[in-house]
Order: sequence, then C-alpha cells, then structure tokens
Amino acid sequence: MFPASLLPLAFLLPFAAVPVTADTYDMVMEYAGQNFFDDWTFYNNFDNLTNGDVVFLSASEALSSRLAFVDTTTNNAIMQVDNSSTVVYNDKRNSVRLQTNVRYGVGSVWIADMLHVPYGCSVWPAWWSNAPDWPTGGEIDTFEGVNMVTNSQMGLHTLAGCTVTGQNQSSTLLNSTDCSYLDNSNQGCITTDPDPASYGAAFAAAGGGVFVTEFATTGISVWFFSRADVPAAITANSSSIDTSTLGVPVGNWPSTSCSSSEFFEPQNLIFDITLCGDFAGATTVFAETCSGVCYNDFVLGNGSNYDTAYFEVASVRVFSKEGTNTIVQASAAPRTVPAAALGVALSTLAVAAVAALL
Ligand SMILES: *[C@@H]1O[C@H](CO)[C@@H](O)[C@H](O)[C@H]1NC(C)=O
Ligand SMILES: *[C@@H]1O[C@H](CO)[C@@H](O)[C@H](O)[C@H]1NC(C)=O
Ligand SMILES: *[C@@H]1O[C@H](CO)[C@@H](O)[C@H](O)[C@H]1NC(C)=O
Ligand SMILES: *[C@@H]1O[C@H](CO)[C@@H](O)[C@H](O)[C@H]1NC(C)=O
Ligand SMILES: *[C@@H]1O[C@H](CO)[C@@H](O)[C@H](O)[C@H]1NC(C)=O
Ligand SMILES: *[C@@H]1O[C@H](CO)[C@@H](O)[C@H](O)[C@H]1NC(C)=O
Repeated sequence: MFPASLLPLAFLLPFAAVPVTADTYDMVMEYAGQNFFDDWTFYNNFDNLTNGDVVFLSASEALSSRLAFVDTTTNNAIMQVDNSSTVVYNDKRNSVRLQTNVRYGVGSVWIADMLHVPYGCSVWPAWWSNAPDWPTGGEIDTFEGVNMVTNSQMGLHTLAGCTVTGQNQSSTLLNSTDCSYLDNSNQGCITTDPDPASYGAAFAAAGGGVFVTEFATTGISVWFFSRADVPAAITANSSSIDTSTLGVPVGNWPSTSCSSSEFFEPQNLIFDITLCGDFAGATTVFAETCSGVCYNDFVLGNGSNYDTAYFEVASVRVFSKEGTNTIVQASAAPRTVPAAALGVALSTLAVAAVAALL
C-alpha cells in the first residue's frame, strides 16, 4: 500500500536489532493556530446523515459567517452553531461538519486539546472518525454528548462481528458491547466516561482537557485528561508520544474480540455539531435531560439557546507509529494499479517530455 521507502524499518530488516518501542509514535500532522482550518473538507449540505435540523455550511460560508474561525487573541479554533440568526418554522439552523482531507491508518494516535465543547438542549456534538464507505471501514467516536447529559461517551460502530470483551479500561460504565451497526439500532459498543468534567459546563469550568485516541493493531483506546490532569508527556508538546506512559485508558476495545485491522480502514477525523436528529432528538433521549419539543422549542427562534454550542480547540495533533507514515492521501491511487501499467504511464510521460524538448 505504501512505497517501500515508507515501510517501517523493522519490516524491511526483520532480523536487525531494532529497539522495542512498540507504543511510541511520532507526530506527522498538526492542525493548530492560524492554519487550523487549511486541511479540512466542510460537508456543504444539510444533515442528511443523522437527520439533524441543521445545514452544514461550506468552508467559505462557514469562515465568512464565522461559524468556523481562529480567535486571534487565543489562537484557538472555534467551530459553532449559528446563534445570531432567527430560524422560522421548516427551516434549519446553520452549523458545521468538517473532516480531515487525509485519512489516518492503523498505527495512528490523534490528540485533541480543547477548551470548550458544545452542549445545551438539542445540541449533539462529536469528535470522531470514520472511513468513507461506512459501515465498512468502521467508525471511532472519541467524544460525543447530547443535550444536557453530564458525561461524554465513546464507542465504535462496525460491520457485524466486532464485539468488545476483556477491556483494560478505567471506566466501569459500559453501555453496550456489540459494535455492529445492525445491533440495537446501531447503538455501537459504548462506554461512558465517569468524569463529569468530560462534557458540558463542567468541561469548560475545568479549563477543558485533552482527548487521546490510539488506533493500534492491538486495539483501540481512548484517554481523557481534564486540564489539571494532562500528563507531561502531552503538555511538553513533544514531537513523539509513548502511549504506554498514559496509564490505563478510560475506554478500550481490544483486537482479541474485534480486530482493528479487519474492521477498520484509514479514518477521516471529524468535528460536527448537529441539532436534534436521530440521537439528541429521539423522544426518550431528549426527555432524559431536557423538556419541551427539540425542534420547536430550541432550533426555532433567535438562536439564544446556542451560546454554549461551540468547540474551542487549541490543537489536533496526529502521530504515526515510530518509523511509519500512516497518512493516506485522499487522492491515493487505487491499490490495484498493476506496476506494469504504471511503467507504461511513466514511459509515455518520458516520451511526452522528450517530445516537448524537440
Ligand atoms: C447527502 O447529500 C450529499 C450531497 O447531495 C450526497 O452526495 C450524499 O449522497 C447524501 N448522503 C446521504 C446519506 O443521503
Ligand atoms: C450509559 O451508562 C451510564 C451508566 O449506567 C448511564 O448513566 C448513561 O445514561 C448510559 N448512556 C446511554 C447513552 O445509554
Ligand atoms: C505547547 O503548545 C501550546 C500551543 O501551541 C502552547 O500554548 C504551550 O505553551 C506549549 N507548551 C510548551 C511546554 O511548549
Ligand atoms: C492495562 O494497561 C496498563 C497501562 O498500559 C498496563 O500497565 C497493564 O499491564 C494492563 N493490564 C492488563 C491486564 O493488560
Ligand atoms: C431570544 O428569544 C428568547 C426566547 O424567546 C428570549 O427570551 C430572548 O429575550 C431573545 N433574545 C433576544 C436578544 O432577542
Ligand atoms: C454566540 O455565542 C458566542 C459564544 O458563546 C458568543 O460569544 C456570542 O456573543 C453569541 N452571539 C450572540 C449574537 O449572542
């Protein structure tokens, strides 16, 4: 899949004395500061994925209407629901959904440092990832909340056959263990973070925190550190990270019962905020923490319900397992192109180049 020059050294030299650094990853991409929004694709369509009452703006619309912008004072990226427009019956409210232009394959870690996450009645935010041909290729939800719940949840969604057992994780709040999109109306295999500072007003009051997602051949893990608990391995902004120093993850899906290489393809990382829809707007879910009617009583009107419906992100950093490059370009050539065909194409180019010189 990758050119030989990008293969891990250990793979090319299987008998060489390569140091055992199984959990060390090197930074390959950083989304931060004034360039935060440069390498993302904005959805540019109404929410036809989860039936939320929003239009996800294009990049140019989102940037010009300041639903996505970099705060020049803090250098943090803001992504928010429109809270300054009046929405009338039958219309949707503007919001954003953006995903990385490139994808990240197994052997990646992504670390998101956030100061604020969206919350409020009708609000359904997520920091997550999936492969383009969902449910094939899987989905990893690192952070998700709805309405006024007090804790964030995390989980996987896959094709049938992926379940979770034998987790080495700190959370005991297991909601479901079958990751198949066909099970229990695509609930996924969900774990709730026991730390109330993982969501809502408590997250912001604590100064936010850092979410770490490890997508490894041995399994998928999520750590959440509230601001005061962010370990030095992360605050140092080192260009490498050893996940074995982070302690037991809050959520873990070991490959022993769900092979991450089998059920997961390279992932696009995604931020989105929708309103109501299949999860936040489900009558029983909505009634658990809010009252009224999701669309009528919240989406409609002047938008004053959405002053807390924003992500404030200091950085997203992505790492590849030491000695590898897990970045998969969106425009990557199909893996099945025969070498002979490439040879023909190259010699045709060479002929064209020679012709141009004549
Ligand atoms: C959503 O809308 C886009 C743009 O029209 C379209 O390409 C896509 O197939 C739609 N997706 C679904 C799930 O309907
Ligand atoms: C998951 O389980 C926790 C603990 O039992 C519970 O508080 C939470 O509401 C559950 N979440 C969902 C989405 O069912
Ligand atoms: C890490 O990076 C952040 C933002 O880029 C910066 O505010 C902070 O001072 C850096 N920390 C160190 C120890 O360099
Ligand atoms: C669980 O993870 C921790 C942290 O990585 C590790 O020290 C410990 O050995 C693991 N426990 C098991 C039973 O695998
Ligand atoms: C927005 O609408 C709410 C609810 O109707 C109302 O309480 C509030 O005063 C309005 N705000 C503005 C700025 O008009
Ligand atoms: C919208 O919300 C943001 C973030 O809380 C706030 O700074 C801004 O004043 C709000 N806009 C309006 C029109 O209320």
